[in-house]
Amino acid sequence: MGLVTTDVAAAADVLAAGRLCAIPTETVYGLAANADDPAAVRAVFEAKGRPADHPLIVHVAEVRDIGRWIINMPEWGNRLLAAHAPGPLTVVGRRTAGVLDEVTGGQDTVAVRVPAHPMAHALLAQLRARGVFGVVAPSANTFGRVSPTRAEHVVADLGPYLTAHQGLVLDGGACPIGIESTIVLVTGSQPVVLRPGGVTEKMISEATGLPLGSAPATPRVPGTLEAHYAPQARVVLVPDVADIPVGAGLIAYAETATPLGVVRLASPANADDYARVLYQALREGDRLGLSEIHAIIPDEGGIADAVRDRLKRAASSMGA
Ligand code: TXA
Ligand code: MG
Repeated sequence: MGLVTTDVAAAADVLAAGRLCAIPTETVYGLAANADDPAAVRAVFEAKGRPADHPLIVHVAEVRDIGRWIINMPEWGNRLLAAHAPGPLTVVGRRTAGVLDEVTGGQDTVAVRVPAHPMAHALLAQLRARGVFGVVAPSANTFGRVSPTRAEHVVADLGPYLTAHQGLVLDGGACPIGIESTIVLVTGSQPVVLRPGGVTEKMISEATGLPLGSAPATPRVPGTLEAHYAPQARVVLVPDVADIPVGAGLIAYAETATPLGVVRLASPANADDYARVLYQALREGDRLGLSEIHAIIPDEGGIADAVRDRLKRAASSMGA
């Protein structure tokens, strides 16, 4: 079989055998491995070049499966899950005794999410029927780089590793949300957002009936390092198109006209659209060999907060 497939049963076979498979989710593509197989989990770190102390998110088929990984879920955590799972939400809670240290980076908490993507759901349901109760799935990119939102992005980045190790890429088309899940800490008395995403702060307080707490110094969320989500090109955040040099790339809302000589990379219609096209646009800038990508940051709330977060991180990198 080739590297890329739409065959969910074939993907389940590969994962159940302890090999890696990139999978579509509604947020970004993940590089999946059986979360109970230490060698498979270690292979995920090797494939990505990811430091071993960066914990992974466990993906499960149903909300009721979360209890196998997290203990002491607060009542408000259950309300949050009832409202927004399956969906672009990850909860970080106290881990149960059986969770591998390879998954949590040795921390006493574990991150779990229930993806809404129909193909991811079908795959996880098939795996559960075969005794595989969760898969780890970090974004399917080399460490520090832009997350993939299409199967071809995964192939371009991790294709050689997956081919050499009999892995697969399950092709579910373009990811409908386009940026990573919201991460919420559920260990305390109120929700704390560790990474903004498609489930917004307003949605979290409405679902839980609680105000949001501020992030503690621990647990660390290593994936939120500055300089993450960076393309090769230098990313520059600008208020308008006044000073964009000729030959630079531009990401801006559709109503903004492209100055002469500037390369338009994306023209999103609204904030949801901005999230969906952002990573594709950054990759396109690299494909064209641009040295700079200018982005007009969206200023509304909602998912625009998450878009701003990713743009700021991309801009804080010096490029490669
Ligand atoms: O949307 C998503 O969440 C995607 C798709 C594939 O599901 N996955 C994803 O995984 O973004 P990754 O590995 O790229 O990012 C996981 C983030 C990292 O920032 C990591 O530090 C954080 O989750 N994380 C995982 N376990 C944690 C824990 N126990 N405490 C705090 N942060 C944790
Ligand atoms: Mg990532």
